[in-house]
Amino acid sequence: MKALIIGGNGFIGTNLADALIAEGHKVTSFDRYPGRYRKPDPKVTYLYGDFANHGEVDEAVKGMDWIFHLAYTTLPATSNEDPQFDVRSNVIDSLQLLQSCCQHRIKKVVFISSGGTVYGVPQSLPIAEQHPTEPICSYGITKLAIEKYLHLYYRLYNLDYIVARLSNPYGELQNPGAKQGAVAVFLGNVRQGKPINIWGDGEVVRDYLYIQDAARALLRAAEYCPSEDEPRVFNIGKGQGFSLNEIVNCIRSVADQPVDVKYHPSRSADVSANVLDISRAKQYLSWQPEVGLEEGIKKTWEWLKQINLN
Ligand SMILES: NC(=O)c1ccc[n+]([C@@H]2O[C@H](COP(=O)([O-])OP(=O)(O)OC[C@H]3O[C@@H](n4cnc5c(N)ncnc54)[C@H](O)[C@@H]3O)[C@@H](O)[C@H]2O)c1
Repeated sequence: MKALIIGGNGFIGTNLADALIAEGHKVTSFDRYPGRYRKPDPKVTYLYGDFANHGEVDEAVKGMDWIFHLAYTTLPATSNEDPQFDVRSNVIDSLQLLQSCCQHRIKKVVFISSGGTVYGVPQSLPIAEQHPTEPICSYGITKLAIEKYLHLYYRLYNLDYIVARLSNPYGELQNPGAKQGAVAVFLGNVRQGKPINIWGDGEVVRDYLYIQDAARALLRAAEYCPSEDEPRVFNIGKGQGFSLNEIVNCIRSVADQPVDVKYHPSRSADVSANVLDISRAKQYLSWQPEVGLEEGIKKTWEWLKQINLN
């Protein structure tokens, strides 16, 4: 298949490109910046442009079979600072993308939504797809709005889509200097001989999924052809929760350097636990995570030791 990854030079996009190429697909990446940690892959076609430029996006979409929509301008933690920007740059521009997908008769759109934010405060754990969706940040609201528009375009124009409500991916190519991604940030600090900073008691629980497991799930999502009454929205996670303290313990057991942790007063208004129920993805996508936390952290550490952190 001819696959376009919008936001294809980032953490998830580059790992997804690897997975697609390994299975014989033709990959085009559309991004505004080149990849941070890798030289261009000769097997990938790179298009540079902005998701906000509808002409450039339309040109990129033309002739493709699958579209993976990964470009996003906001993060959960900061999206409430400017919800109007969040809606403009994500919801409105995604609608433009959907219009191009309809015009060019795209076979499948896979949208990366957020299992960590669309549900809001969990009523029970693990969280299944039927759980109420009451996001407590603008990012979660815009992700959910795009999910709903995908469904509308499916009903109106028969545009085929799958939503992947991704948990907390970690692994190779994740930016240790970013504002999200505890595993990469913690490992980056250890590598630089700096302490790991934890706000609160470290008992916040998240569902950490190794990136190559996540990329395989996105590939299975593109291949999956649901019938009218089969689901199109999937939780993609490990289905298991780990606290930040457990992450630190894992880092201690894999890192061949001292690990120092500093605890600070809690500053987060975030939910205390989020773990996804992944039974639906297991059943319909014939997918399940294969890499355990310690193994995944070890692989990430080995990668991080080889890159230039400055
Ligand atoms: N990393 C996570 O923890 C996580 C969890 C759940 C969902 N997601 C979603 O997965 C997707 C990919 O995330 P990631 O972690 O790979 O992020 P990333 O920042 O590593 O990659 C995103 C890529 O999109 C590109 N991009 C952003 N805005 C663009 C624009 N306007 N035009 C063109 N390119 C643009 C960036 O240059 C970057 O290369 C996002 O939609 C994100 O919301 C991420």
